[in-house]
Amino acid sequence: PPCPALPEGFDFTDPDIYQERVPLPEFAELRRAEPVWWCPQPRGSVGFDDEGYWVVTRHADVKAVSTDPQTFSSRENTAVIRFNEHINRDEIDMQRLIMLNMDPPEHTRVRQIVQRGFTPRSIRSLEDALRGRALRIVEEATERGSGDFVTEIAAELPLQAIAELIGVPQQDRGKLFEWSNKMLAYDDPELSVTEEAGKEAAAEIIGYSMGLAAERAKCPAQDIVSKLVAAEHEGNLSEDEFGFFVLMLAVAGNETTRNAITHGMHAFLTQPEQWELYKDKRPATAAEEIVRWGTPVTSFQRTATCDVELGGAQIKAGDRVGLFYASANHDPEVFEHPERFDITRDPNPHLGFGGGGPHYCLGKSLAILEIELIFNAIADAMPDIRLTGDPRRLRSAWINGVKEMQVTYA
Ligand code: HEM
Repeated sequence: PPCPALPEGFDFTDPDIYQERVPLPEFAELRRAEPVWWCPQPRGSVGFDDEGYWVVTRHADVKAVSTDPQTFSSRENTAVIRFNEHINRDEIDMQRLIMLNMDPPEHTRVRQIVQRGFTPRSIRSLEDALRGRALRIVEEATERGSGDFVTEIAAELPLQAIAELIGVPQQDRGKLFEWSNKMLAYDDPELSVTEEAGKEAAAEIIGYSMGLAAERAKCPAQDIVSKLVAAEHEGNLSEDEFGFFVLMLAVAGNETTRNAITHGMHAFLTQPEQWELYKDKRPATAAEEIVRWGTPVTSFQRTATCDVELGGAQIKAGDRVGLFYASANHDPEVFEHPERFDITRDPNPHLGFGGGGPHYCLGKSLAILEIELIFNAIADAMPDIRLTGDPRRLRSAWINGVKEMQVTYA
């Protein structure tokens, strides 16, 4: 039956809904009325054979599902989105080569290997280089006087951070950035990147990374590629696994961090008292609140492996279960005044990086470091930055994104 709290036909995978805003009022209605809600969809409309999906809206339920991979599997498609129209069986099989779509114990093996590149020590070792990058990005923008914050500032540091992390030589970075941007743009009908070009760019990234891995396997250096592909030792990544890993980083670490930075800047520019507080005190709690506030990944999906009860709903084996982080991050059971952007919020158990469990964001410390470095650089070099137009949002039910945000840098 349709949900009494929502207009009939309301569907959280409809990208048009997100064109103006994240549907926070609708999530609030559901949390109150029917926190685990079955959203019906016409059969076949999204490339699936079923007739809808579950919407999980409460913080506690999102955590419960995330931490139970045996009951809620990641092996089927993990995005609750409409461009699933294009997804066929072969593609789902391909996607299983990336860890986001694996279940334990396979996932555990890959995660144990790749997390060697993300130890606190490895991330700290990038800090000086990234601080220098952040300063240069901000200085160059300041010289321009005004422009698009998204492309000129927010998009730059995440690309550099991934390149730095995997040790991509300087002369190859331009083409890696071009492929990454093409790949991320393809589901946006306004941009002239075709789906085909997006897939080609993904293949280029895989091919390039495999080449880098092959080189380091022959001639090891002191970088993460060499660490991950030390081929003669048991338990390391093969060259093609490395290729897919880099592809995943290019997706997982780019647009997410870009949008966290953009939403954070927008929040500061529209709530100047928080910007004053930031410039003055630089609270260590700010970056986490920026991620809660922006929630760059609106949702992820799991598939039930058996019949199970969740928050009063009877979920059946094979049902799709959508975890709506954007809703969990505004759950008043957990957050006092969730509608307030408060950079001193502490504790802040937001689910912007996932609900815990085996897939919890691997790049979290890197993302937090990037956010801190860029806002410190902005606060130092352009304390009077101003918004000059309304941000243009990305048309996506999955990524809470901003495509363009005009500012004056001052
Ligand atoms: C997974 C969010 C930055 C690498 C995830 C997940 C979320 C997320 C929601 C899924 C968690 C789950 O299913 O339980 C974000 C946000 C970021 C960010 C909001 C920025 C603010 C990064 C960065 C990197 C990264 C910078 C790496 C360079 C990954 C990887 C996974 C992941 C590899 C998959 C982990 C697994 O399957 O085990 N992230 N992420 N992320 N993220 Fe991030």
